[in-house]
Formats: sequence, structure tokens, C-alpha cells
Amino acid sequence: MIGVDLFSGAGGMSIGALWAGIDVRLAIEADKYAAETYSKNHRSVDVQNTRIQTVRSVDLGPRTSPVVLFGGPPCQGFSTSNQRTRSADNQANWLFREYLRIVHQVSPEWIVFENVKGILETEGGMFIRQISTSLKRAGYNVAQWVLNAADYGVPQRRSRLFIVGCRAGRVPSPPPRSRRPSVTVWEAIGDLPLLRNGAAIDRLPYRRDPLSAYAQRLRGSNAQSANHLVTKNMPCILERYAHVPQGGNWSSIPKGLMSNYEDLERCHTGIYRRLRAHEPSVVIGNFRKNMLIHPTQNRGLSVREAARLQSFPDWFEFTGSIGFQQQQVGNAVPPLLAKAVFLAVRRAQQRA
Ligand SMILES: C[S@@+](CC[C@H](N)C(=O)[O-])C[C@H]1O[C@@H](n2cnc3c(N)ncnc32)[C@H](O)[C@@H]1O
Repeated sequence: MIGVDLFSGAGGMSIGALWAGIDVRLAIEADKYAAETYSKNHRSVDVQNTRIQTVRSVDLGPRTSPVVLFGGPPCQGFSTSNQRTRSADNQANWLFREYLRIVHQVSPEWIVFENVKGILETEGGMFIRQISTSLKRAGYNVAQWVLNAADYGVPQRRSRLFIVGCRAGRVPSPPPRSRRPSVTVWEAIGDLPLLRNGAAIDRLPYRRDPLSAYAQRLRGSNAQSANHLVTKNMPCILERYAHVPQGGNWSSIPKGLMSNYEDLERCHTGIYRRLRAHEPSVVIGNFRKNMLIHPTQNRGLSVREAARLQSFPDWFEFTGSIGFQQQQVGNAVPPLLAKAVFLAVRRAQQRA
């Protein structure tokens, strides 16, 4: 099966596709650093670093097998954590039309459209209805799957919406959930190096043997790994961190230390959250802005720790400044979740 990744970001979905045996041929991504990360880690893919609006034709070479067109247009506008931009007025919310334009152009056998769950409710469900209706009109049978990454071996509770469509036959059922217990934060990151606030040495050896089959798998045969970068927070922020227990958030911090917040009650529950070591993580989104705290150290998460919680393998390296790397990791579809989706698609294709 041939893959095309639209709005590819660093390529979390593409890694899942690769793991499911899909030959990804083309990726389109507007951001320079995300496209650079994609190219560095997917050497055989043609990466077009351009805005999708400017893509006039998609050339896949000889179509020797069925094509799956996949991707997630930017979702900030649909996210429940971003009420301000969650409407039809936000231009970014209309990028899905570009996705549909490419669907018409390529006419793939399969489509996988990924987004945040919030898109189901935005503007009373208008967006989701438009996408489904347009795909049906283009001749696709479609189904909506809301899947939680933690059910597919990812150490993170992160629900995502997938619209899966096919031109022939019925869309399969969602992939079966893993029967194994969820992977915990500590099992995922406990072997990574001890770091300080503001850590800036990119490449470091592991601290110990992997603590789980999950960590072993992502580590592979590497002796060291990259992207051990941590945001440098001011001392007053570190003082706040020290008050937050595992699973706690900003509400554990003495009010006197939060005097720069005008209205504390308006802080959302994700601010200053410290991860619980022995549970799956909360969503790894904008983890710098949300001040997500390491379970046992008084600092933010490193890029590599966040990547592990997203199920990126350690050979996958992020490029750009620390801010761009954090964004690439937080934006990604966890590769293991994407793999489960693509395996379901491939099995259905093989049965057809
Ligand atoms: C949610 S992220 C995609 C994450 C990706 N699916 C992954 O798994 O890593 C959305 C991406 O769309 C890109 N993007 C935004 N507007 C774009 C446009 N007009 N053309 C192409 N890419 C665009 C952003 O730079 C961002 O990397």
C-alpha cells in the first residue's frame, strides 16, 4: 500500500504507517523545521516543504498498489483547550477543504483523516458533517473512530478522532484494544538521563537498562539518544514546581507564589500538572506552555521524554530550536496509535 501524508508535521503518523508496512511516498508540510525533521527521519520520502494551498498536482509515480491518503489539518481551532479560536471564523479551521481538494485530485482507495475530538462539537458539529458529507459525495464509505492512545500501547491518555474512508467495500471496525495493562510514565522514561532545568546537551547515554518492553522497543540497539533538552524556567517557577505532588496541578501552589496570575480560578486544570509516575501520562500537547512537570524532578519534561510518551522511537531525532522541537512532538499523532489504525486499514484491504 502507498501512503501520502498531508500536514505531515515531524511525521508521527508516517512512522505508524511505516510500522504497518505502508510505503509512504510523499509528505507535505509548511513549517521549515518540521519538514526538516521529517526529511531527516524518512529519507526515502519526497518531502514538499510548502503550504498545501500551493500544491497544484500530486505525483505518486506508478500506482502499483492501493493508495492511502492520510493526515490531520491543524487542530488548534478545534481543541477544547482553545475556546477562543474554536469557530468558523478561524481560517485554520478551513484547511480541511485543502485536504478534500487533494482527495479529489488523487482519488485514493483509502483516506484517514485525523483530528482532535473537539471537532465533533465545534459549531454544533458543522465541520464534521461537512467533511463526512464531502467524502460520501466523493464516493467514500466513511466511519468515525474515537480512539484513546493508552488502549494501543502508548503511555498517554490521548483521545483522537479518525475518519476512515474507502472507495470499495465497508470500512472495517476500529482496531482491537491492547489486552496488556497500560504502559506507565515511569516504565516509558525511567531509563533516560537525569537532567536539570534548562538542560542543553543534546546527546547523552542512557542512565540504566530499559524498565519495560516498551522502552526497550523504542530504544532499540542505541547506546545513547538525542533531544535531551529542557526549557530553562526562572527560579520562581521552579519554586512553584516543588509544591506540586504527582497528579497535582497549579492548585497545590501557595497563592502567594502565583501573584502574577490575575485570576487564579481561570487557570485550567492542565497548568503546572506533575505527571504520575505509575500511570499513563496526561496529554502531551503544548507541554512547555502548560508547564508539565517531570514526575520526580523539579523541572519540565525534556523533548526526548515527551517523545517517549508519544511512542516515538529513539532513532527518530527532532531538529530546530527547543521550542520547535517541543511543538513537533506535541503536535504528533502517537506512532503506535497510527500503526493500529493503518494495520486495520491494511487488513481490510487485503480481505477485499
Ligand atoms: C497537527 S500537526 C500534524 C502532525 C502530524 N500528523 C504528525 O503525526 O506528526 C499539523 C501540521 O500542519 C502544518 N500546516 C499548517 N498549515 C499548513 C498548510 N497550509 N500547508 C501545509 N502544512 C500546514 C503545521 O505546520 C503542522 O505541522
